[in-house]
Amino acid sequence: MLPTPDLSHLKRKDYEFVYEPAEDTFLFLDAFEDEVYFLKELQPAISLEIGSGSGCVTAFVGKILGESSCLKYCTDINPKAARATQGTAKQNKVSVDIIETHLVSGLLPRLEGQIDLMYFNPPYVLTPSEEVGSHSVEAAWAGGIDGREVIDEFLPYIKRLLSVKGAFYMVVVNENKPDEIREIMKNDGFDSSVVKTRLAGREKLFILKFVRTAA
Ligand SMILES: C[S@@+](CC[C@H](N)C(=O)[O-])C[C@H]1O[C@@H](n2cnc3c(N)ncnc32)[C@H](O)[C@@H]1O
Repeated sequence: MLPTPDLSHLKRKDYEFVYEPAEDTFLFLDAFEDEVYFLKELQPAISLEIGSGSGCVTAFVGKILGESSCLKYCTDINPKAARATQGTAKQNKVSVDIIETHLVSGLLPRLEGQIDLMYFNPPYVLTPSEEVGSHSVEAAWAGGIDGREVIDEFLPYIKRLLSVKGAFYMVVVNENKPDEIREIMKNDGFDSSVVKTRLAGREKLFILKFVRTAA
């Protein structure tokens, strides 16, 4: 069992501004632990986490990939999250390039079709639309109608960014209508699977995995 990354440099005060790792984060870690064999076989040259928050997930993935030469990118819309990710990378001796941006702005067209491993624990909570789009800690959860507003904005980027062999993982809850998301992605040319599910209080969490449908 791989240890959870060291986050001891982040204090209570930091979590007033940055998403504190929670059940969804830990389910993501467990899913990646189950996927170790696949990830090692994949040998990603470039990985990208969207919305890295504390940096916990990318530090964990960095440990799985070990000394490989994978170039690891993260983005976050929240400047304090970007700083936290940088700190976590340093604390865990994982090298990461963090970009403070909206979703993947600035990465296209440069990284078009080049990302072998991409993952996103998005803001998935159902909220009024007006709450979506903050650059502060609310950005961590405010997902708008059906918790899908940020997710739906992001989905079209997956086919543009992922390499031919690439895989994309995403956290969703039941209310996000996972089957509908899988159908949208199927129409974009992706097979999907549920890597992990867990009940966390009243939330049913899923980790979805997408890979391009074989020609
Ligand atoms: C649920 S939190 C997940 C944080 C971390 N990855 C984890 O699993 O603990 C969602 C993260 O996405 C970021 N985020 C929300 N909307 C975003 C956007 N449009 N572009 C980039 N990052 C965004 C938030 O700031 C937050 O850090």
